[in-house]
Amino acid sequence: MIHLFRVSKIYAPNYPALVDIHLEIEKGEFVFLSGPSGAGKTTLLKLLFRGEEATEGQIIVNGRNVTRLNGRGVARLRQEIGLVFQEFRLLPTMTVLDNVALAAEVVGTPVRESRKKAFNLLRELGLKDRHDAKPPALSGGEQQRVAIARALVNDPILVLADEPTGNLDAEMADETMRLFARIHDRGTTIVIATHDAGLLKRFSYRAVFLQRGRLLGDSKFAGEAAT
Ligand SMILES: Nc1ncnc2c1ncn2[C@@H]1O[C@H](COP(=O)(O)OP(=O)(O)OP(=O)(O)O)[C@@H](O)[C@H]1O
Ligand SMILES: [Mg+2]
Repeated sequence: MIHLFRVSKIYAPNYPALVDIHLEIEKGEFVFLSGPSGAGKTTLLKLLFRGEEATEGQIIVNGRNVTRLNGRGVARLRQEIGLVFQEFRLLPTMTVLDNVALAAEVVGTPVRESRKKAFNLLRELGLKDRHDAKPPALSGGEQQRVAIARALVNDPILVLADEPTGNLDAEMADETMRLFARIHDRGTTIVIATHDAGLLKRFSYRAVFLQRGRLLGDSKFAGEAAT
């Protein structure tokens, strides 16, 4: 699903955010990208959906050579990926239902079908009573679930989440993780960037450890783990 081969990212003028990264993630895996602040977790996620371009190396995501895509290729790649951010990024003046449905409409799904998909997802995530509310009226945990619904509405085969529990209390964080676990159970590949070591302890998925741009450990390969 994801292959990184000798990937480096140097931000201008010459800041090495990722150095010589090799990483393989199979279809259907659930992986934490862990490591301290500044380690390069967000940068690595950005490279996967071409939010940033790698300076060196090869990146394959779902069979696409990410480093060589043109504009249309990038658009197609992003349709296959669901993105979840720490700060939710919901549109405050639109209803919850419209926030989710819009994500389907912008990739060409007819309005009625988009709304139906959004409605069903929100119900599944326990938000069916809130679909006419606007995001500022929701709790942090509810807003995060709306953001996750939006990420799922186009049936992505890969979900990338950057500190999705960073703004939530411990209980809501675990609830959100269980939600990701359910999505994972359906066969979706999940990659979550987090600096929350507690999360890694409570949910024993594969953890890849980054520090200062280098991949220093991977729980999948015994003996290599750095923690
Ligand atoms: N656009 C940019 N231009 C220059 N440097 C950047 C840019 N984005 C990130 N960096 C630097 O690259 C390094 C890695 O940043 P990144 O955001 O990937 O870290 P992170 O592991 O996600 O950290 P955090 O846990 O704080 O979110 C940091 O030192 C950061 O300052
Ligand atoms: Mg980050």
